[in-house]
Amino acid sequence: MSCHKKAYITTPIYYVNDIAHIGHAYTTIIADTLARYSRMSGLETFFLTGTDEHGQKIEESAKARGKTAQAYADEISATFKTLWDDFDISYDKFIRTTDEAHKKGAQKAFTTMHAKGDVYKDVYKGHYCISCETFFPVTQLVDDEFCPECGKSTTIVEEESYFFKLSKYQDRLLAWYEKNPDCILPRNKRNEVIRFVEGGLQDLSITRTSFDWGVKIPENLNDPKHVMYVWLDALTNYITALGYGEDEKDMDFWPARVHLIGKDILRFHAIYWPAFLMSLDLPLPKHIAAHGWWTRDGEKMSKSKGNVVNPREVADAYGLDNFRYFMLREVPFGGDGDFSQKALIDRINSDLGNDLGNLLNRLIGMSGKYFEGRVDSELVSRYYQKELDEVNASLAKLEPMLFEMQIHKYLEELWRPLTVANKSIDQYQPWRLMKEGREEEAMALNGLIAAILAKVSVMLHPVMPDVCSKIATALGFVIDNSSWNHLIQEHGLLEHFTIEKIPPLFPRIEVPLLEQAIPNDTQSKAPKPTQKEATTQKSEGIAMIGIDQFFQTSLKVGTIVDAQEVPKSKKLLLLQVDIGEENPRQVVAGIKEWYSATDLVGTQACVVANLKPAKLMGLKSEGMLLAAKDSNGLSLIRPETPKTAGTPIG
Ligand code: MSP
Repeated sequence: MSCHKKAYITTPIYYVNDIAHIGHAYTTIIADTLARYSRMSGLETFFLTGTDEHGQKIEESAKARGKTAQAYADEISATFKTLWDDFDISYDKFIRTTDEAHKKGAQKAFTTMHAKGDVYKDVYKGHYCISCETFFPVTQLVDDEFCPECGKSTTIVEEESYFFKLSKYQDRLLAWYEKNPDCILPRNKRNEVIRFVEGGLQDLSITRTSFDWGVKIPENLNDPKHVMYVWLDALTNYITALGYGEDEKDMDFWPARVHLIGKDILRFHAIYWPAFLMSLDLPLPKHIAAHGWWTRDGEKMSKSKGNVVNPREVADAYGLDNFRYFMLREVPFGGDGDFSQKALIDRINSDLGNDLGNLLNRLIGMSGKYFEGRVDSELVSRYYQKELDEVNASLAKLEPMLFEMQIHKYLEELWRPLTVANKSIDQYQPWRLMKEGREEEAMALNGLIAAILAKVSVMLHPVMPDVCSKIATALGFVIDNSSWNHLIQEHGLLEHFTIEKIPPLFPRIEVPLLEQAIPNDTQSKAPKPTQKEATTQKSEGIAMIGIDQFFQTSLKVGTIVDAQEVPKSKKLLLLQVDIGEENPRQVVAGIKEWYSATDLVGTQACVVANLKPAKLMGLKSEGMLLAAKDSNGLSLIRPETPKTAGTPIG
């Protein structure tokens, strides 16, 4: 973190021509996570979000619905605000570009740029994409007509316009990118911007006259037919929200620590915005961080396909914190991500249920069984210093990852302490310690597990605030700046406490809880499982199938006749398994963490014999071994006594 004791974090302001979808939720949730972490770590934090309400696109959408632009903007802006409130997004200000204070601030910026000699009047002739609110030279159009960004038809504009001398800033922009390798994240995006700017910048048209739903340019220019170009109006929100041009009361939060955006609006933020700021003699943002694009089940989301992911529906069905965790863990920042219920369910059942929830249950179980729920950390260091060191080393790596936008890595690293905890239970076996009368060690082990859970829940809190507060309550502490200091910065442990039993945090999910989005023309007639049906099936542990369906799977006893490590793979072993056929089957199995190749040869396993062959790391796999995995690790399922290779199972 820099020595700037304040942190200003922003989302884009969302257009009010549509209701929020998963893409909007993603940006907002990342920003919320950063803001929560900032506050927890003691920084004075200002988190801004809001709505972008002017421009031709909004004016046309309102007209199409028979509403005034203002009424329409009020309506949609409110849906964003309500969603963020329901999602407990910790914004400090929700700005609307129709706010009077914003309009005045935007005009002040225009006046300042004009006074600086950076604005001149001319005629704009060219193409405009209303959907993207962007001007394009003909050379960039597809087939001389269509928008290179969204593919829609552009309109030809020929009107008087004020221009901003963007070209004047080309060299200063390049120098800024050069001097600040992290100003645009991920770093490869910075290279794209540099290449674009090196290609030459043209001056930018910053006013329009053919419609009037926008901020008027300053009155002293005596040109009332001009309204500001919506992107100039919108970008200035980042400073008008702090009082720029008005009372300036929060301007000491400037420059922004990070502007979070999607990759589609990088050019506006990484080229226009810094150039405007240079013209205004204001410092430039520390980071502009551009994330990737979400698709659904591998397809682009669109209203016409009816496959847009509604964040409220997902959060209602699966839990808000689970949804937050999924989005941040699933996709490397900057990369594109795919939303599927399967991927979401896997994350909930596996990372959250098996690794985290189960650990808490184990601690509740062990401390309840042996110590009436008491947990005492006094002797943890005596017996488990090695584990503590490992955990603290992992935790020390986290903060920089967060502000370098390596959020998925942050979460991956945060899971290491959980592995240490689960492994320690397996290794030291509290039941054995108790049987051997080594109570002190068993208590210290509980202290270790409690400390790990506490530390993880502090660092996970910005991502999963509600769940982590519950874990903290069970462990008798509160997550705030002082517990962050004590547990993370100072490597402290928990005090003596009595654990509170709480219901399982991540009940297993067996079936998708939402209707699958299917392109409209092939809409499935299959009814969506009701919450009740889904939970009934859940409690039975599995969706019901008929016996005939079961017998479609060919299960056989196999003898492993050869086993090799797969080069460069941490997980895979290459096995030859005799299932009574002429040649052994080649099976690639992800079991290396639990079995060594040499130990396997000569043992038996249950093989799924009629799976379509698949390729793993370039190796053909002609079957699958049955195995069971819980937090204690993985075991192959084998016949109790040896059976002839190829014996059918059923
Ligand atoms: N109003 C402008 C931003 C002005 S900021 C000064 C705007 N609004 S938007 O509502 O169209 O988009 C807002 C954000 O949503 C953008 O960052 C965009 O990248 C993001 N997303 C829109 N669709 C998305 C996905 N399918 N996936 C991920 N993010 C997406 O642009």
